[in-house]
Amino acid sequence: MIFDNSPLSPDQFLAEYWQKKPLLLRQALPNFIPDLDANDIAGLACDELAEARLITGEYPEHNWQLKYGPFAEEDFRVLPQDHWTLLVQDVEKHYPPLQTLLDQFAFLPSWRIDDLMVSVAGPGGSVGPHVDQYDVFLLQADGTRRWEIAELFNGALLPDCELNVLREFVPQQEWLLQPGDLLYLPPGVAHHGVAQGPCMTWSIGMRAPGKADLYQSLGEWLASGEGGDNRYRDPILQPDPYPGQVEASAIQGFRELLFSEAMDLQQFSSFLGSFLSRYRLAHEPAGPDKRVDAASIERSLNAGQILRHNPWTRLLWIESYSDASLFAAGSEYRCSVEFAATLCDRKRLASIKAGLPAAENELLCALLNQGHLYFEPL
Ligand code: SIN
Ligand code: CO
Repeated sequence: MIFDNSPLSPDQFLAEYWQKKPLLLRQALPNFIPDLDANDIAGLACDELAEARLITGEYPEHNWQLKYGPFAEEDFRVLPQDHWTLLVQDVEKHYPPLQTLLDQFAFLPSWRIDDLMVSVAGPGGSVGPHVDQYDVFLLQADGTRRWEIAELFNGALLPDCELNVLREFVPQQEWLLQPGDLLYLPPGVAHHGVAQGPCMTWSIGMRAPGKADLYQSLGEWLASGEGGDNRYRDPILQPDPYPGQVEASAIQGFRELLFSEAMDLQQFSSFLGSFLSRYRLAHEPAGPDKRVDAASIERSLNAGQILRHNPWTRLLWIESYSDASLFAAGSEYRCSVEFAATLCDRKRLASIKAGLPAAENELLCALLNQGHLYFEPL
């Protein structure tokens, strides 16, 4: 079953709802008690490493104001009583114990999960009716929020507004969500959530890279790789009587320069693994002050130290030639499929014991020295 208390199996959810239609799951996480409260989130919003936004306004008045963090305590002291929302992204990376919540989404590929965004709102708080281009699971964490949604709507946005707010919104369905309730929305469904009192909502958002991002990164990847220095050449050139004309033969020459070597699947997988493991990477991992080596890793494992993921590193792998390419924040490493799967799984990573084969120890060494993994202090 997906979640503690829902009648759906992963297969049913994926076949019937995923990327297709909204689903409300009452008490998907019964007795859910958030590990963080509004003060913790406000504190995080003051941290300069956090990505935070403060939105005031309401629909249909459309008196929206948006401020970006980091914030100071003073910003919160001068907030009005109501109609405000504070949003903080990547909360599970700032508070790694919250990653256990994301484990509940193990019925989805882990690379597809982007982050946990927490919104804290005063009465009437809302970010306006809008449409997201990615799937989202909206978990009611505290207080009550009224969600209104529409699958058919006028997509016109409010002009001259930094927020992507719909100018008009006519709900087709609405629900009051209580703590533990969860609303799944596929991309492209208009939604408007209004806090009914002090309210906290946790959004688990999915990653959905767009074509423009992919093209841009692919261009950079190709330009910095083998052949990136190759230049246009025209050894067979005819005199051209018309100044300024770029002839058909030159156009063809450029096409061949760019597209003659179609990328094979192996190359494309390398690009994709590297791209996905860097996508929306907010902080470059930094290595430890003291570099580790094979012997010190053995000593740490023998002493019972546990390996953890750097919460900011994105780790994923792709099978290739019966082994695996492991990607961590854009870098590629080779290892066995089994070891790649172990490294990417929080629980299996934590149970790695001393006595690893040399190649695996070497890979751990590289990942620790790059800051993708760390030993939890005893
Ligand atoms: C919110 O939690 O206030 C907004 C989340 C969303 O609409 O995606
Ligand atoms: Co949204």
